Amino acid sequence: MKHFLSTIDYKREQIQALLDQAAELRKAPVSRALAGKTIALLFLNPSLRTRSSFEIGAFQLGAHAVVLEPGKGAWGIEFETGVVMDSDSEEHISEVAGVLSRYCDAIALRAFPLFKNWQVDRQDAIIKALASHATVPVINMETIVHPCQELALMRTLQDHLGAPDGRKFVLTWTWHPKPLNTAVANSALLIATKFGMDVTLLIPDDAYRLDPQFMHAAAAQARQSGGRLEVTTDIEHGYRDADWVYAKSWGALGHYGKPDQEAQLRAPFRHFMVDGAKMAMTRQARFSHCLPLRRNIKATDEVMDADYCVALDEAENRLHTQKALMLDLMGEPVNGDRS
Ligand code: CP
Repeated sequence: MKHFLSTIDYKREQIQALLDQAAELRKAPVSRALAGKTIALLFLNPSLRTRSSFEIGAFQLGAHAVVLEPGKGAWGIEFETGVVMDSDSEEHISEVAGVLSRYCDAIALRAFPLFKNWQVDRQDAIIKALASHATVPVINMETIVHPCQELALMRTLQDHLGAPDGRKFVLTWTWHPKPLNTAVANSALLIATKFGMDVTLLIPDDAYRLDPQFMHAAAAQARQSGGRLEVTTDIEHGYRDADWVYAKSWGALGHYGKPDQEAQLRAPFRHFMVDGAKMAMTRQARFSHCLPLRRNIKATDEVMDADYCVALDEAENRLHTQKALMLDLMGEPVNGDRS
């Protein structure tokens, strides 16, 4: 069964085919290509963009999206195997996956990490449990990676820069009042290295390095694609000659589950906010962010309102790229081949 859990499982050519299809769908957005098909969207966490772009995308292709919020409008789900289910969850993922596989042509899930124990959360067990029990394709709508965001980011980047190879991509950490998920940061590194970019991870302290599984995967992809991956704590070095600035905040994994401790570590680094002076050090770079974004915390009003800010283009491309993904996973296979 072909799933979309992480772009690590996909070759560059396969991702490029989705991006090319997305560009075609942008020109002709409405069709009956998925008429009669259904996708279940399971949200364990809030969303604006992911939910609306999947729902609208399914509608524009003639499909139907069922939105379920386990623990809210739907029964709470237990994801662990072999447990005595005497807590709040009313049903097990094996039955949820089995039932939805009978009704639907794909199942998508958003399940953020629980922020208690990174050694547990880094396994990404919840979406893996769904994928192991489902008999239809499963789509990751953000767990410890956000592969749908990666598609939109790379579509947007190619729309503005053309070929990404060799262009300087800076992923800068930014301050935020709370320690956030590393998913989008992991994903930004993965997609930029897969496409041969000269990638700089700009962090305020070594404690903000991403999990080794993603650092190693990104480094391996950079070697394979002819790109580069470096880590720096030097703001000027990070921004200098950049073609693309991507911002995200995340919590230091060494203090995972200890927000008060992490807040002390983070406190001196508010100056990592993206502002006009930093953008002036770049090679007329575009700026983007996955959104949502707190203005004048992660980026100034000046940056968000500048012509070089393409965050709304990236948000729009969530729609086109996810439609390409749904067509790939739910549409009729070409020559019976889904590989
Ligand atoms: N970027 C993103 O996934 O946005 P939402 O959390 O609003 O879905």
